[in-house]
Amino acid sequence: MCGIVGYIGMKNASDVILDSLRRLEYRGYDSAGMALGIDGQIEIYKEVGKVADLGAILEKRKPLATRGIGHTRWATHGGVTVANAHPHSDGSKRFALVHNGIIENYLDIKEELELEGEEFISETDTEVIVHLLAKVFEQTQDMIQTVTVLQERLRGSFAIAVIQQDCDDRIFCFRKGSPLVLGIGEGEMFCASDIPAFLPYTRQAVYLDEGEIAELSPRGFRVWNEGGTLQEKPVNLVEWDVDMAEKGGFSHYMHKEIHEQGMVLRSTLKGRVSEGQVDLSEELDWSPRDAARWNRIHIIACGTSYYAALVAERAFEKWTDLDVKVDIASEYRYRRIKCDQDTLAVFVSQSGETADTLAAQRKARADGAHCLAITNVRGSTLAREVHSVLLLKAGPEIGVAATKTFTGQMATLFLAALYLARLRGTIAADEEERLTTEFLQIPYKVEKVLEKEKDILPVANTCADRSNFLFIGRGISFPVALEGALKLKEISYIHAEAYAAGEMKHGPIALLEPKVPVVVVNPRDSMYEKTLSNIQEARARNAPIIGICTEGDILVKKHARAVVEVPWTDEEFSPFLTVVPLQLLAYHIAKILEREIDQPRNLAKSVTVE
Ligand code: G6P
Repeated sequence: MCGIVGYIGMKNASDVILDSLRRLEYRGYDSAGMALGIDGQIEIYKEVGKVADLGAILEKRKPLATRGIGHTRWATHGGVTVANAHPHSDGSKRFALVHNGIIENYLDIKEELELEGEEFISETDTEVIVHLLAKVFEQTQDMIQTVTVLQERLRGSFAIAVIQQDCDDRIFCFRKGSPLVLGIGEGEMFCASDIPAFLPYTRQAVYLDEGEIAELSPRGFRVWNEGGTLQEKPVNLVEWDVDMAEKGGFSHYMHKEIHEQGMVLRSTLKGRVSEGQVDLSEELDWSPRDAARWNRIHIIACGTSYYAALVAERAFEKWTDLDVKVDIASEYRYRRIKCDQDTLAVFVSQSGETADTLAAQRKARADGAHCLAITNVRGSTLAREVHSVLLLKAGPEIGVAATKTFTGQMATLFLAALYLARLRGTIAADEEERLTTEFLQIPYKVEKVLEKEKDILPVANTCADRSNFLFIGRGISFPVALEGALKLKEISYIHAEAYAAGEMKHGPIALLEPKVPVVVVNPRDSMYEKTLSNIQEARARNAPIIGICTEGDILVKKHARAVVEVPWTDEEFSPFLTVVPLQLLAYHIAKILEREIDQPRNLAKSVTVE
């Protein structure tokens, strides 16, 4: 949560930082602020609300500076007030600092500093850091030594950028536990929580490792490790381009990202499927012997990534002979589930920064498991900590509610399942060929579903005023129902519950009445007839049915108030198609209700707190 950015160069820092914050706003959006170094002074501008509200202040004041730091906040310590917004500065206003993360021992440090006469004006943990930094700097007069002391004193997670009043040609940043990337431009340098912040300016990036400290100047950068030793850092060329981080004619990022799903699938499959086989040997250094050693697989994730894992659970069960367990990261990490060197532990995280997923990974790794990350962010903490990585190739996802990364995650997990099945000899060559042939058709079929958007608009119109929805599905469609309900509640704030259709009669059926729409995911598959019975149970209680079914289906149509048809595909692949109408339904209902679709209340895209 929270996005930070730093800039030093020749451009108007206020404009550049504001623009970068706009692209980081998915990380938190309850207040925003900026500190600019101007003629040996620091000027701070802050506002509650969106980055645009900060922009309105800057528009009036028009500050001119060539270095500065900025922040977009998702409140943790202290309410949403101007005083609590970042940047924070020390008593003498010599330093200003922005922070993403949480300082767990800030109260102890605060007490200590208060005894020494320091006064605080906010309720945040961050203000404590900048006071401590100023104190330590008084003694060391050296920023690197100061940060080294801070790294030792601070417990928790942090990515921090600092400007110093009388140091016109530098800014500093450092990290532990929270992400921080440097952007290397021509005569200008950036630091940011995430790459989209500086994508319009440069595609050259340096990923900071745990404990590293960077000094940025218009001429270049230097990086030290936690012990204060200078480091050589590789510069990486980012594959994403700036258009990927813009709305491109759509009114919302979420809408654009839903429409990118065919493309995401094509990129995900490209170079990984050929001649009837999945080949991941360039990315996964797994021998058939490794693959034969594992006898269980744990798939761990949060939120939408967890639902992608639940879909993939069915695929792993069907194609491999492994014992499959899927769990939520915040539960898994506290359980005593058998996990050892015979376990393949897969961590699914769009951002690669989710605190609970990282903690679960560290636990599994300590238990001896081989850890695989499925993530969209190269260089993310998760990607750097695991033994093996498979990237999603979804491009940046800016809408807080995940859509295209869900599709990318399912596809990447399916590739891993098919590859593992071949290495373990649990899938016949002709079956793999048949499945991969169909897999390659899925991007086109997803695009056919997207063409049905016009059919979804009237459905959204008829039910946007409802307060409760039930989503049901069985088998592989059950996690799709879970994801559909999550999308609806996240962006429309309508209560939506998802249930395995067979469980409806054990409780949720009591909720049914004519005002509660039941969204049923029922493609033509092995669970089709069972789900039809569940549809009838709901109909008998006069609940209006919205059916997601296979093209040409007449039985779901017979009972439903409205249906959206998807092309036929194999049972395992149906989630790629059936989830799309649910994403569009949530989107259009939220649009009718005039919700903040890309930045729903209380949510943040990257959850870096436990
Ligand atoms: C937050 C986001 C969700 C996301 C979840 C897991 O809750 O709002 O969209 O699914 O975190 O994030 P991850 O980056 O680990 O996939």
